[in-house]
Amino acid sequence: MLHLQCNTGADSILLAQKGAIVTAVDLVPDNIHYARKLAKELDIDEIEFIVSDVLELMNIHKEKYDIIITFDGVIGWLPDLNKWGKIISNYLKDDGYFYLHDAHPFIMVFDEGGLPKGNLTVKYPYFDKDADLDTHIGGYASEAKQADNYYWGHSISTIINGLISGNLYITYFNEYDRCVKGMGGSILDKDGLAFYPDFEQKLPLVLSIKAKKMTKNIL
Ligand SMILES: C[S@@+](CC[C@H](N)C(=O)[O-])C[C@H]1O[C@@H](n2cnc3c(N)ncnc32)[C@H](O)[C@@H]1O
Repeated sequence: MLHLQCNTGADSILLAQKGAIVTAVDLVPDNIHYARKLAKELDIDEIEFIVSDVLELMNIHKEKYDIIITFDGVIGWLPDLNKWGKIISNYLKDDGYFYLHDAHPFIMVFDEGGLPKGNLTVKYPYFDKDADLDTHIGGYASEAKQADNYYWGHSISTIINGLISGNLYITYFNEYDRCVKGMGGSILDKDGLAFYPDFEQKLPLVLSIKAKKMTKNIL
């Protein structure tokens, strides 16, 4: 499988421990350095880690995959989801599938400070967004440093149209009112998933999409 935006590789390693042969990609060299170190310490050989921008990966890597996955804090870092959809399609085998799990665009419009207190204030536009610019960024493997970084709050239609532009079709689309810790939510349920008590079963925090490659033209 191909794991896009793998960060420091913990999930790539878990997947390899479950038997997958994994190629994992991240933009940040420090992340991949740490991921390789962790895999070596755990004696995992079935992973190839690559430093690359997902949107430039086709310049340096040629392979086809049964499964492509990317999850939890990923698409907002990508400026062009049409290019993303085409890249996913390029790397998928004809009978393979793509899986995305990420923040739900709807919840991203609200003031994050208000959600834990039960307040809904629309702070960010849903449509036609320019990227938000931040001037500091850190990671699990590197100190926060001064560097301009851009986050695009893509809408649902931008995500779906990105996949369509890669000639992919959706085999399921799900929405959830709880998420992994760190992606929103103010308290944890008994399974360790985070949610906002005032909005349980009322607002979606994350979505998941599974898509496959269209092998003949049905449109
Ligand atoms: C929030 S993390 C993803 C979370 C991941 N699932 C984890 O377990 O930590 C986002 C990752 O995307 C990477 N990233 C951002 N833009 C990228 C790009 N254009 N190409 C590849 N990786 C990118 C960042 O370096 C970061 O590691």
